[in-house]
Amino acid sequence: MLNYFNPDRPIKTFQQTKEISMKVSIIGGGGLVGSCAAFALQCGGIAREIALLDVNQELAVGQALDLQHGCPSVADQTIVGGGYEHIPTSDVICITAGLRRKPDESRLDLINRNTDLFMQILADVKAAGPKPDAIVLVVSNPVDILTYVAAKELGLPCNQVIGLGTQLDTIRFCSLIADQLNAPPTQTHALILGEHGDSMVPVWSSATIAGLPLDRYPGWNPSLANQLFTRTRGSGAEVIKRKGGAGFAVGIAIRDVIDAIALDKRCVLPVSSVQSGCYGIRDVALSVPTVVGRTGVVDRMEIDLWPKEVQGMRASGAALRKTLDVVLQRIGR
Ligand code: LAC
Repeated sequence: MLNYFNPDRPIKTFQQTKEISMKVSIIGGGGLVGSCAAFALQCGGIAREIALLDVNQELAVGQALDLQHGCPSVADQTIVGGGYEHIPTSDVICITAGLRRKPDESRLDLINRNTDLFMQILADVKAAGPKPDAIVLVVSNPVDILTYVAAKELGLPCNQVIGLGTQLDTIRFCSLIADQLNAPPTQTHALILGEHGDSMVPVWSSATIAGLPLDRYPGWNPSLANQLFTRTRGSGAEVIKRKGGAGFAVGIAIRDVIDAIALDKRCVLPVSSVQSGCYGIRDVALSVPTVVGRTGVVDRMEIDLWPKEVQGMRASGAALRKTLDVVLQRIGR
């Protein structure tokens, strides 16, 4: 853009600053999760370019075109459909492709059906040659297992591989609590950590609404707490049962993580990564409070929680490790 008062000095707009000129590729971009993520990113206006990759390229091109039509009213972004030719120029590679579970199937049950497909995606990403500083965000399920596999297979530094983890469960949890108590959703803060799956852990010890302790909030009681957590844990299945699969909230959760990377926010998010001792957990990927910035996992916050919360996270780690052993054997690692 030209600066008419001083033509020698071009004006740098927010979108054009090099540091946040991000290209995001979404593998599985034709599907529900991938396209909802793309729409959420479009509405956020942060990414400079969004590429939708899909085995069904025609579908990816169609989704991209539909999104592109909205650009004039949202932000100056490029939105395209295509294939792995987009990988070498991508700053963030978000993998959403995979089979969806049935309502009565756990995310861990999916592993048998999803591993081979996921290994092929990783091989294709690797062959395409990602940037050395690219961040890979894994969304496909079971996300903690696949995050670990991606971290080991891609040959990128471990801090550059993040799983969406319990960021999705956390926003679901906050939304249900806020709805029940008639509280503002954006001021409702209650974390879920551990596995994005059956062993996820509600962190009541730090839950607040507008900075006030959640357990003092009008209307709060322990049985409500249990009900809300149980509904949160079953939310993925509930949405699959009602509408076939989750899309909008997953897209928003993906945007939370990608914005943190793009803007080097260093905000603390409950996302998954291969652990190396946080809360005594190692060699398994799961969600702990994680500082997320341009380099991916910048740090982890190991803050004292209730002993039963920490025990819950360790139990998540043990459950995941069991499945991981089976998977690693299956793929010959
Ligand atoms: C869900 C999927 C994305 O929880 O795991 O909806």
